[in-house]
Amino acid sequence: MKIFPIHELIYTVQKFPLLQSLTACEIVQSLKFFEDVPIDCLNEVVHDLHIHQFSNNEIIARHGRYNEWFYIVLSGKVSVFMITPDYTNSELYSIEPDNFFGEDIVISNEPRESTAMACGESILLAVDAQSIKKIIASSTRTNEMLNNAFLQRKMRNNLRSIPIFTRLNEEIFNEIVDVVNVVQTKKGDVIFKQGDTGDALFMIRKGDVSVYRTMNKKDELISLLAEGNFFGEMALVLGEPRNATVIANNNCELLKIEKKDFDTIVLRHKDLYDSIHTVALERVSGHELVNAEEAIVSKKLIELNRKLNKHIDIIAQCTFETPKGSALLATLPGSRYPYVYPRDSACATRMLYRVAMSTLRSNDIAFRLLAGIARFIYSCQRSDGYWGQRYGLDATEKSIYKQEDNVAHGVTILCRYCLAAKHKGHVPIDSEDYINAVYNGAMFAIKRYYRNEIHLFYSTTSIHESAIEEGYSIWVNYAYWCMLSLIEQVAQEYNCVSRFERIIDLKEGFGRIVKNVFTIDDRLIRRLKPDGEADLRPDITLMSPFFFGTGIVPNVFTEDAIFSNTMKYVEDTLWDPDLGMLQRYLPFIEDPDTHVHAGNGPWVQYTAMLAQYNYFTGKVEKGDTIIDIINRYSVDEYLCEHLTTPERFHEFLTMEWLSGKDVNKEFASDIMVDGITYDLIVEELNHMKSSYDQIKRTIDGGTDNYLTFAMPLMWSHAEYAMALLLKVWRELLDSGVKHNLL
Ligand code: CMP
Repeated sequence: MKIFPIHELIYTVQKFPLLQSLTACEIVQSLKFFEDVPIDCLNEVVHDLHIHQFSNNEIIARHGRYNEWFYIVLSGKVSVFMITPDYTNSELYSIEPDNFFGEDIVISNEPRESTAMACGESILLAVDAQSIKKIIASSTRTNEMLNNAFLQRKMRNNLRSIPIFTRLNEEIFNEIVDVVNVVQTKKGDVIFKQGDTGDALFMIRKGDVSVYRTMNKKDELISLLAEGNFFGEMALVLGEPRNATVIANNNCELLKIEKKDFDTIVLRHKDLYDSIHTVALERVSGHELVNAEEAIVSKKLIELNRKLNKHIDIIAQCTFETPKGSALLATLPGSRYPYVYPRDSACATRMLYRVAMSTLRSNDIAFRLLAGIARFIYSCQRSDGYWGQRYGLDATEKSIYKQEDNVAHGVTILCRYCLAAKHKGHVPIDSEDYINAVYNGAMFAIKRYYRNEIHLFYSTTSIHESAIEEGYSIWVNYAYWCMLSLIEQVAQEYNCVSRFERIIDLKEGFGRIVKNVFTIDDRLIRRLKPDGEADLRPDITLMSPFFFGTGIVPNVFTEDAIFSNTMKYVEDTLWDPDLGMLQRYLPFIEDPDTHVHAGNGPWVQYTAMLAQYNYFTGKVEKGDTIIDIINRYSVDEYLCEHLTTPERFHEFLTMEWLSGKDVNKEFASDIMVDGITYDLIVEELNHMKSSYDQIKRTIDGGTDNYLTFAMPLMWSHAEYAMALLLKVWRELLDSGVKHNLL
């Protein structure tokens, strides 16, 4: 995006002799939007106006974020779309020159519900919040115009966010938009009573409601319904009185369709009628809460789902649809890491897989994301089965480091997808191709990285990028253990055990070997160096048995004394004394083995893993404390990758970056992929330099005692969401309630 103040435009226009006398006000006034704005108001705001220029497909305003500008389109076109509950883009409307958008900036103080993107090069007039407030205060007609547009557009957003309407074709959708009304409720409002005549259908846009039925003269809670659900359909489609009373549990936003409008629309659109009728029949034939315990579970799951959705949404924001599948970027498009990393994607699928396999309302969403990610990762695999460190949006390899754990991650992602697809009855027609890719990946790793003499996978680099991991590391070996275990499950589910015999044989005993080799005295170690010496230093990778174990099935990992000792060691040594949270290893500045990464400090995704571990092993309060600390560093609910302090950053700059030591570590020849081009190194160096320069500017202008990097990091959100999931799983387990959350 290019930004320039409006005088620059005026200056250019005035260079033409015929236009020399034109003033900024006159130019602006020629736009339809400003027709009714009094000239003195225009004079006041005109100098604050800006021109924003966007290139094709550039995101102008993203859903989930607050608007910063109100825009009038001067040239080009803007497409406004919603990411639907199944994570496809659904265009709501497009905005042509002389029309405006971004009115939410003054009318609602909520984050945007839709995303605006430039279609072709587009030039927009940008008005800041202050100026637009002055404008609407000066002109009633402009104010009305803004309000009407807001209501119309909000209605479209609202309807598309209800699953039964998400995929509805434009014609029926428009008919519904015309007849629907928004109803706001307060906590305790009775929406209707059992026995009433059914006069309308309600859809829940925000909030939740309780459904009560009078049985044996007592009101029994039979269901809790939340966002995306509808109610009041039974009386309409079955032609009976209301069979239950519905009460709002909080401030709800409901969309209401009157019976006469409903009847007219469904008469002509049988598919819509059928989908509503099916739900009504399901509700008649059971699906009722049987006791208070079930009601508590249902409520907990609604709340969990709501919280998870925020993080799944951020993951979706980092997802780019491409012809080769969904490219899950490490951060938002346009930021520091515009690549797809198989490792980060695998960690995200650890959480998405769990949600997809659960009974949570978002299981379909999670499954669709998982399917898209798997498709993209499948497209990245080299013909010999290999996956590298990272890929561009067109699935071309962009790796710098060798990172031998990535083949495990690639296979893991495909296995999770195959297992979830089977579970949900959505096995893809090309499942054979996925199974082949799993086989080729595993065979590649066994041939290239597995050392028969010690029965372990050898690596030069992996999670910490630099040479710190050369040898046999706990992270890499547990990553392969996870891969082998998932392959065994896939082989069973897809009836191809004999094809995978060799791989399954290798898995036998591998878990035990890994555990034994990495145990010294009463705790685990992070690595055996190439010469066989043990690397005893503390490292977050010591969490690997938990992390990879719970990435398979929940009961694969059980804690023993060795593991709890190890976790104590991790916490005692790696907890950041100033900022809290876990560092990934100790800050050995100027140590050639250690990559300090812009100043040492804690990392959010690893700290979230520590919270997961505490929840999983029943230390719920401690898990909560850790999550609270993470929350302290979140901004607008975004979580970063890692943090440091201005002093430590300064130390890094002077001792590591300016002296060239960091570059020597980052680009040491033995850790980089073979045949790396200098172009790629320069590209990476440019990313690093611009991000460090930016931090220097932040420090100069700021007063915070900490700095954050890569906000939001998709991976941090995935681990945080997994922690939320494990917390509720644990709480339900402890309360003795039967459930199938994992
Ligand atoms: P209706 O009979 O029109 O009014 C009461 C509504 O409560 C009913 O439609 C359904 O929408 C809802 N309802 C009734 N039974 C259930 C159930 N078992 N689960 C979920 N919702 C229900």
